[in-house]
Amino acid sequence: MTSRAKIHEKVVIVKDYEALSRLAASEIAEMLSEKPNCNLALPTGNSPVGCYELLAEWSKSGDISWKESRCFALDDYIDSAEEHSFKAFLQTKLYQFTDLPENSQFNPRFSDDYDDLIAKHGGLDCILLGIGRNGHIAFNEPPTPRSSWTHCVWLSDSTKEANRKYFEGASVIPTRAITMGISTILNSRRIILIASGKEKRSILERALTGTEDASIPASFITSHRNLLVIADFDC
Ligand code: PGA
Repeated sequence: MTSRAKIHEKVVIVKDYEALSRLAASEIAEMLSEKPNCNLALPTGNSPVGCYELLAEWSKSGDISWKESRCFALDDYIDSAEEHSFKAFLQTKLYQFTDLPENSQFNPRFSDDYDDLIAKHGGLDCILLGIGRNGHIAFNEPPTPRSSWTHCVWLSDSTKEANRKYFEGASVIPTRAITMGISTILNSRRIILIASGKEKRSILERALTGTEDASIPASFITSHRNLLVIADFDC
């Protein structure tokens, strides 16, 4: 178990969602400038939207370039319509505003062996994560073992419920997904986790201060040597 003092060195509390988004976006921008050919792993969901808006703005103004980088979606639904896919989400919220080449946009749904693909490109330099209310990271639902690599999952009831808002009017809410595993995530050279909103406080606290446990998949990141957690609430 990582001590409370040690984990708190890795946590930055900011005043609001705007500050959280700005800090996360600055970290990615710095990575792109220090290592233009970096490999980034990117999430979907509400949490990264503000960060992507800033990155889109800085891309349009020419302050950052993605030309040599590669982006790997963390996960995607298996059984959703194309317009609800995470491929479409990343395209709409971020990629379309950048100079990221199309053949540098990767998604596990379109790869036979995502971990091999990532390894062949030199491994992940930085992974941006949100956290689910049940402690999932990417779609690693509780319980997911530390030894997991990219795999298919059935979504938990809590995740399906949280996703319902994205599927208004749709008759079917996705039940299955493909996701990077915990080992895929831990192999990244840097991990940034963003947590916004009071409803994430309790699960984040449990993930950061308890023992590493498959029942809270986010708890596995606490021992990573290059972790940054950004939250817009006290924890
Ligand atoms: P959210 O989802 O950013 O929409 O809260 C986070 C997650 O489920 O990983």
